[in-house]
Amino acid sequence: MPHDAQGGVPAGFRTPPSPPAFDPWRYRWAVATALATLVLVFIGGLVTSTGSGLAVPDWPLSYGMLMPPMVGGVFYEHGHRMAAATVGVLTLVFAVWTSLREARQGVRRLAWAALAAVVVQGLLGGLTVLYLLPTPVSVAHACLAQTFFCAVVALAYATSREWLAAPGAREDRAGVRPVAAAATACVYGQLVLGAVMRHTGAGLAIPDFPLAFGTLVPPLTTLPVAVHFAHRAWAVAVLAAVIVLARRGRRSGERGLARLGLLVLVLVLVQVALGAAAVLTGKAVTPTTLHVAGGAAVLGGCWLATLRSFRLLRPQAPQEAPASLVEARARP
Ligand code: HEM
Ligand code: HEM
Repeated sequence: MPHDAQGGVPAGFRTPPSPPAFDPWRYRWAVATALATLVLVFIGGLVTSTGSGLAVPDWPLSYGMLMPPMVGGVFYEHGHRMAAATVGVLTLVFAVWTSLREARQGVRRLAWAALAAVVVQGLLGGLTVLYLLPTPVSVAHACLAQTFFCAVVALAYATSREWLAAPGAREDRAGVRPVAAAATACVYGQLVLGAVMRHTGAGLAIPDFPLAFGTLVPPLTTLPVAVHFAHRAWAVAVLAAVIVLARRGRRSGERGLARLGLLVLVLVLVQVALGAAAVLTGKAVTPTTLHVAGGAAVLGGCWLATLRSFRLLRPQAPQEAPASLVEARARP
């Protein structure tokens, strides 16, 4: 029986029998939206790092205006709203464009889902302001930002030349598919821990690094210390997952996966250094905010590695039993 080369690919994303033509401008638009989102995450991080979340007290207008004087914290808060509006418009144009031109139903749905996510994200942003930064809303806003980024990365990949070409025929002997998916899940967990730590003010609950209160495992007597320590311990799991991803990517025989695996590993090492710098500088704005955006870059990299491995590699075929074993089983 011929092996299903698109195995593991959701039905709405499969390349139809005659693949849709590559649309370079729609692809570039999606890539630009993804890059703009990464910049927006950095700008959003600046709002939190500079403590400007309440510099503008009203929403949806800013001091009753569309364009208030950009002074003090208003520069960050209103600047973030303008950058968010730009990403919203980019997403809206992409969704309309895709619904007119895209043959694959799954891609059309994902484009509308991304638009819905950006609208909900704007509402959460507004709610954080109106309810004076309640922790659950701020954490949800931080996590939805990264989830939205993943949706846009998926749209960019789904419209790329690589995805539209025939699916890869090489077998995933190195096991890249499961480890890429596991690494993505690990990093997402790390982002949630990071957001909880950031919005409960636990960023400096452990003031030293690499040790914690001078020991390997500090007494986990308070919640802030426990959350902070969990983020550090989970960083080890993220690092381990990404090392395995880089090694398996190299063995996969796909150059694109080998390079991406290495890039993600480098990004995680930089991310650990930025995390350390955030602690050792007492949360200086630049390293701390770069750490937030770096988290999105690591997540996006692992997610892209997952998508690419599911597209370029087909699942491992079940091992054939040796002939002697088959014969032995057939005997009465
Ligand atoms: C596409 C839409 C948006 C994205 C992707 C986005 C993303 C982000 C990110 C990544 C942060 C930093 C979170 C952190 O450092 O933990 C943030 C913070 C913030 N954003 Fe947005 N945002 C968007 C729209 C908005 C809108 C429309 C508002 C309207 C008021 C808003 C208000 C805020 C506020 C007040 C903070 C600071 C929260 C705090 O310090 O607790 N955001 N945003
Ligand atoms: C291994 C990979 C790591 C990833 C992917 C990661 C990711 C993140 C993210 C995304 C946030 C902010 C979440 C948000 O509000 O949106 C965060 C916060 C934070 N991370 Fe990490 N992190 C990692 C490792 C580390 C390490 C090793 C440290 C060292 C202590 C660290 C220290 C911190 C601190 C202190 C904060 C909170 C900053 C604040 O309170 O403003 N991180 N992390």
